[in-house]
Amino acid sequence: REVPPIVQELVAGGVQEPPGQYVVPEQDRPAAAAVSEIPEPIPVVDLSRLSANSADELAKLQSALQNWDLFLAVGHGMEPGFLAEVTKAVREFFKLPLEEKQKYSNIVDGEKMSSDGYGNDMVVVENQVLDWNDRLSLLVEPESERAYALWPTQPPSFRDILCEYTVRCRPVANLMLQNLAKLLNLQEEYLTTMLGEKSLTQAIINYYPRCPKPDHVLGLKPHTDASMITVNFIDDDVSGLQLQKNDIWYNVPIVPNALVVNIGDVMEVVSNGLFKSLVHRVVTNAEKERLSLVMFYELDPEAEIEPVPELVDDKRPRRYGKMKSKDYLAKFFDTYATGKLAIDSMK
Ligand code: SIN
Ligand code: FE2
Repeated sequence: REVPPIVQELVAGGVQEPPGQYVVPEQDRPAAAAVSEIPEPIPVVDLSRLSANSADELAKLQSALQNWDLFLAVGHGMEPGFLAEVTKAVREFFKLPLEEKQKYSNIVDGEKMSSDGYGNDMVVVENQVLDWNDRLSLLVEPESERAYALWPTQPPSFRDILCEYTVRCRPVANLMLQNLAKLLNLQEEYLTTMLGEKSLTQAIINYYPRCPKPDHVLGLKPHTDASMITVNFIDDDVSGLQLQKNDIWYNVPIVPNALVVNIGDVMEVVSNGLFKSLVHRVVTNAEKERLSLVMFYELDPEAEIEPVPELVDDKRPRRYGKMKSKDYLAKFFDTYATGKLAIDSMK
């Protein structure tokens, strides 16, 4: 198991050509297939209307998920001033000198010890294409399981802001789960109960440095998320997130201060395929670095991921197997490294 370099350091060193390990095979490159803009209307859902039980808004959510496996959320209650503070704190962390960031490294003695910390994935397979991305990953919920030793103390506001963001994202996740339950004809609290006290929320701050040859690399390879749902805040409106539908890649539109919320593998399985896990990737660009703060809502590690019995019947037989959440997460990273979609292993 090899530790990949920090991409930010390559770029700071003036690299002109991405090193071979980052170069994506020609057929998988960002420009290999046409990329389209999502046709109007852009699925933007107002969460304040959703929480006031607006049937129109629920219909909009349903259509967004049916067509795109994701929606853009406004009316989430996080005012632009707060989101600007979040942006500032995460940017300042990545601006710290390497030695300072390495204090929070996810690598101990050359072995990856936990999913928390600063760095990137280990190289686990031969010819693994590396991502043009560095990241800081922190388990934020349950609060009792936070590994504070890996939480940056610089900038000084970082911890408080991440805590506040965690608290303010929770109602967004709950509201989404309540409404997904409605759309599945389950009791309103079915999914929020499932995502109970022992469930995990993993925060990942992705940093995509500028790339001198953006056409030759990917910020993140095509993947589905191992989560139930994912809530993504893209700093400073830099595009780069793309979704795949019917073999076509689309740019996910940028709506200032909106959150991007998508379905993950667990929800696809739990809903017996009524919702689909979003296939997505990230492309980089030559002019601008890009940051995103992503919250992954995952089940209790001891819980089984499987279709709920209410959604299995003669007309709609069970479409997925069963796996313990912690086993799924453990397997997820190796599957990702090979460029395969984790969800396919559940079918
Ligand atoms: C992700 O897929 O987890 C990150 C997406 C992004 O950077 O926007
Ligand atoms: Fe993702």
